[in-house]
Amino acid sequence: MDKLLIQGGHRLSGDIVVSGAKNAALPILCAGLLTADTLQLSNVPQLQDVSTMLTLLRQMGLRVEQDGHSVVLNGGAIDKLEAPYEMVKTMRAAILVLGPLLARFGEAKVSLPGGCAIGSRPVDQHIKGLQAMGADITIDAGYIYAKAKRLKGARVVTDMITVTGTENLLMAATLADGETILENAAREPEVGDLARLLISMGARIEGVGTDRLVIQGVTSLHGAQHAVIADRIETGTFLCAVAATGGDVTLHNTRSNLLDAAMDKLREAGAILTSGDDWIRVQMAARPKAVSFRTTEYPGFPTDMQAQFMALNCIADGTSHVTETIFENRFMHVQELNRLGAAIDIEGNTSIIKGVPHFVGAPVMATDLRASASLVIAGLAAHGETLIERIYHLDRGYDRMEVKLSSVGAQIERVK
Ligand code: EPZ
Repeated sequence: MDKLLIQGGHRLSGDIVVSGAKNAALPILCAGLLTADTLQLSNVPQLQDVSTMLTLLRQMGLRVEQDGHSVVLNGGAIDKLEAPYEMVKTMRAAILVLGPLLARFGEAKVSLPGGCAIGSRPVDQHIKGLQAMGADITIDAGYIYAKAKRLKGARVVTDMITVTGTENLLMAATLADGETILENAAREPEVGDLARLLISMGARIEGVGTDRLVIQGVTSLHGAQHAVIADRIETGTFLCAVAATGGDVTLHNTRSNLLDAAMDKLREAGAILTSGDDWIRVQMAARPKAVSFRTTEYPGFPTDMQAQFMALNCIADGTSHVTETIFENRFMHVQELNRLGAAIDIEGNTSIIKGVPHFVGAPVMATDLRASASLVIAGLAAHGETLIERIYHLDRGYDRMEVKLSSVGAQIERVK
């Protein structure tokens, strides 16, 4: 089990290249199931979750070639319409094969994802939408069994905004018979990136970027080339790291219009942010100011940035309130941050953070992907040494984070 060993207190300066977005790459890889042709993908991040998804897709018969950040997929020989429990339990996003399999093959057997550290995270909306499109779905012994001669277009209003729910139904609708309207659709940039790929494959989709997607089904989709959008959460994670340690770093291959809400809050905390078409520069000289926020769906403050920004608030001047509205248990990082000297109290879905002058390094344990990132930020800013265990959580969603941070002056290394 790898660990990260961090000597804190070093300001960060220099340049970091941001990777492609995990949460765009995962649905985009599943889109390879929708066509017998070839998809040529670039800027695919090298992450554990991407490797897991490629393994699953290979098991299903998708031909996969991966060379660095390029992936070539061909869906001409799919012969297994199933996502087994041992794959799904490690990566919930495997649920994203359900829509494509039903749309193209009329059949799917997909394990229910089960819960995870940050919440129960059911997939009832995915199922409700596919049933509305004519799928016959039963659940037995932990598996979803789905069948449909041919999906037919329907108007679907999800009970809440769901990112992968929108993505599953969007992919299913591209090959359904007739018109599908997805109301209350997720507007995250990763949904838009998937939609742009599907359109380049011949899908007919209107309303990209809005909460109402209108899809006219077609009989088949063809191959395409696509570059995965930049990872806005990796971008925001590094911005928070520099704001916490102080310094001057420029992030490349990213866009500033992907995370306006988080950047506004960083400016409120005292960071100086400047940006161009494909770069963002962050400068921080003084102690951050405490900034309160609540997470909401895009374009609001992202839940995937909550833990990272909380680490910044821990050492800020003042008291802040952080409210998590998307997941019911996404404060697993609070106890670990308190071990590093923070002063956080939890009241329901709100954390009250009383700023302390600095973190003090200590051994801590990662519990989930973004909690791990917040512990790295705390360790970088801490006085002394921090050892983070169970960093397999981090490797799921960050492409060689310690290498990127070392290149801008962090004292951080991976130890066995
Ligand atoms: C996606 O998860 C992301 N994962 C998550 O990122 C992200 O935190 C989340 O969206 C919210 O932005 C991927 O895109 C692979 P949801 P998803 O469906 O789609 C409830 C990370 O750190 N819900 O938008 O699973 C659900 O329980 C990960 O990169 C239902 O009740 O999230 C949650 O409370 C973590 N029934 C809320 O809706 C459903 O059928 C939003 O969930 C679906 C969702």
